[in-house]
Amino acid sequence: MKEFIQYLPKVELHLHIEGTLEPELMLALAKRNNIDIPFNSIAEVRDAYNFHNLQSFLDIYFQGADVLIKEQDFFELTWAYLLRCQADNVVHTEIFFDPQAHTQRGICFDTVVNGIHRALIKGTTELGISSKLIMCFLRHLDEESAFKTLAQAQDHQDKIIAVGLDSTELGHPAAKFEQVFKQAIKQGFLTVAHAGEEGPASNIHEALRLLHITRIDHGVRCTDDEELVQQLVSERIPLTVCPLSNIKLKVFERMEQHNIVALLRKGVCVTINSDDPAYFGGYMTDNFLAVNQALPMNKTEIAQFTFNAIAASFISKSEKQRLT
Ligand code: ADE
Ligand code: ZN
Repeated sequence: MKEFIQYLPKVELHLHIEGTLEPELMLALAKRNNIDIPFNSIAEVRDAYNFHNLQSFLDIYFQGADVLIKEQDFFELTWAYLLRCQADNVVHTEIFFDPQAHTQRGICFDTVVNGIHRALIKGTTELGISSKLIMCFLRHLDEESAFKTLAQAQDHQDKIIAVGLDSTELGHPAAKFEQVFKQAIKQGFLTVAHAGEEGPASNIHEALRLLHITRIDHGVRCTDDEELVQQLVSERIPLTVCPLSNIKLKVFERMEQHNIVALLRKGVCVTINSDDPAYFGGYMTDNFLAVNQALPMNKTEIAQFTFNAIAASFISKSEKQRLT
């Protein structure tokens, strides 16, 4: 089964590029860019990766992102991730980035998007990995900052397919971003949002109703509301689930308690993704292996995650047919 999972073609739909910053690159960029970080060794960095909830992770995640300064840094970060994709047989990936995490520190929006995009193009031509880019608004920041970010994206709409919503879920309702999502849709962006990761099932309802999203990032708390689960099935609303992340951030105590396989068997369009693999201890293959080890599946079920991800992806109909 390990070999089957290793060689299975995979599609990733929930990946924060800033969350692929491995400690080695973090230390190298801190040195190159003269940035003070509170770690002196790779072991010290890894020791800090003990999270008790989403916020305790986000604090470390934003601190790590501070070492990214130049376009070349964003390029190298993205290229390193694409090499991991190649190793895991990821054939298509849809990547989030958090522009406000950088523009707030005085880094130009163009620097961020151009560095990431250059690596994605190289990934397509040299590795044969197709990709899409999704710009997330940080939900702990205000509406005005999100609107400003949307305006900055206007010159790059050819590179960005969708907008998303991430960061602190509790205390930052979807309603805060209703208008900015409305404007983004008007401008032609597709929409996704994190919902029901730490927050209740009602957050999923609100994201669907107020933000008009076409797929939900995480969404595992849907099982608290059986009617919602039935709606996800009947309307084929996909969930981009991140199993290792959910364990690291204590959404579930143990993988054996994770609901992803139960949701798959109920007919929900669930997918497996790595979220922030440098922080959560595994890329795509590791996530598949961890789920299968705790909750054994047959090969048809495992392959269904890839079929679901192809269906839920933002690639064209003809491209979907090519992959299936
Ligand atoms: N940003 C990066 N990873 C995240 C997660 N798991 N939830 C919310 N925001 C995030
Ligand atoms: Zn995420």
